[in-house]
Amino acid sequence: MMRGTLDDACTALAQVHVLPDEPPSVSLYEVARIVTAALDIERFGVWCTTEDRSAIRLYFLYCRSTDSVSDGTILRKQEFPRYFEALDGRAISIEDTAVDLAASDLRESYLEPLGIGALLDAPLYADGEPAGMVCHEHVGGPRQWSSEERLFVATVADNVSRLLEVLQRQRAEQNLRAFREELRALNRLEEMARIASGVAHDLRNILTIVLANAELLDDELPAGQDRAPVEAIRREIGRGRDLARELMDFGRRVAGRPAVQTVRAFVETVVRGAAPTLDGCTVDVVDHGAVSRVFIDPTDFERVLVNLLYNARDAMSGQGTIRIELSTVRGVRHSPSLGRAVRVSVCDTGIGMDADTRLRIFEPFFTRKTQGTGLGLCIVQQVVTRAGGVVEVESEPGRGTSVHVLLPAID
Ligand SMILES: Nc1ncnc2c1ncn2[C@@H]1O[C@H](COP(=O)(O)OP(=O)(O)OP(=O)(O)O)[C@@H](O)[C@H]1O
Ligand SMILES: [Mg+2]
Repeated sequence: MMRGTLDDACTALAQVHVLPDEPPSVSLYEVARIVTAALDIERFGVWCTTEDRSAIRLYFLYCRSTDSVSDGTILRKQEFPRYFEALDGRAISIEDTAVDLAASDLRESYLEPLGIGALLDAPLYADGEPAGMVCHEHVGGPRQWSSEERLFVATVADNVSRLLEVLQRQRAEQNLRAFREELRALNRLEEMARIASGVAHDLRNILTIVLANAELLDDELPAGQDRAPVEAIRREIGRGRDLARELMDFGRRVAGRPAVQTVRAFVETVVRGAAPTLDGCTVDVVDHGAVSRVFIDPTDFERVLVNLLYNARDAMSGQGTIRIELSTVRGVRHSPSLGRAVRVSVCDTGIGMDADTRLRIFEPFFTRKTQGTGLGLCIVQQVVTRAGGVVEVESEPGRGTSVHVLLPAID
């Protein structure tokens, strides 16, 4: 039998209801405040299984010390197989994340950076099927969970399941359609990337053979003969091989290794690294405060930033200042499910885009540059979608472009 605060908390939880027309996060916010206080924990998260069961998506996250709410982060099964195995419809109780085997997958990338020392996860059910998890995360060192506390989180999960049923019915239609569309686009892109990568692989082998034979011809040319045609062949083969390499990379990186990243420090490191390739452009990083952390594969995040910096450089013909603005925003226009987000905006004062260009920029292989492959923004969108975020673009011909990358805040 539960006593004291936990008992009172159970009574309070039973009284939380979804009221018609109120924003979906209100009732979960109430639950989160009751639960984090009763258990004296920092983080309370509700994760829902995606329809194809390949991932869980953060439906609601509450951080007690900042009294803030966010959502949208995605954990994919293929990236964290051991955690998903442990999860599989069961409760998980970890008293020391530094040593527990079930935590090993997530330790370096998620638990350590967020300082989560112990956790108590309880499964959510919908129509008798596992539908997600309620996560109670203790920030600080290890912590023992009492049998009352374990019992209590099962009650929390029952209450969250009850509320989710109502909430999901309310907002399912609109959100599900948007998310399904996102997933479908991502799957289409991944399929295309796989095919392109295979073709590029064979193409590279063919080009290697052509190059070897061009070298042979070159050797056999009599002295004094014009070598320009052979040089041209060599140069074009070089370009072809570069393109093939880019295509192969595009296909290879379909699964990343997401980890918690501190946005400002990360952006500054990438800017320093990319500086020598930005011609005469300088970069100003402007931090509008309260910038939080995000959960994304570091190589992917770097590719996003570098691609946007290169586009800004090209748009300004290698002259001028590129601004990277960092801020935290709430409620994102194009993604009803993205709550508190970190916004990284790469802004240039270059040529801008006309309406037709603006409509096509995310298409693979769409380019208006003589040396472009047209994969840059396609990769940016793919990576950001995979991390649960969105990309928004503002542009005016002759005035410049701002590309906003919005990623779910993880704390
Ligand atoms: N900051 C920008 N300002 C103006 N136009 C842009 C900007 N960013 C992208 N574009 C337009 O969108 C097109 C597609 O961009 P994307 O980055 O996908 O490919 P790319 O830069 O042409 O080639 P690459 O594959 O080398 O990146 C560009 O060719 C350009 O016309
Ligand atoms: Mg580009």
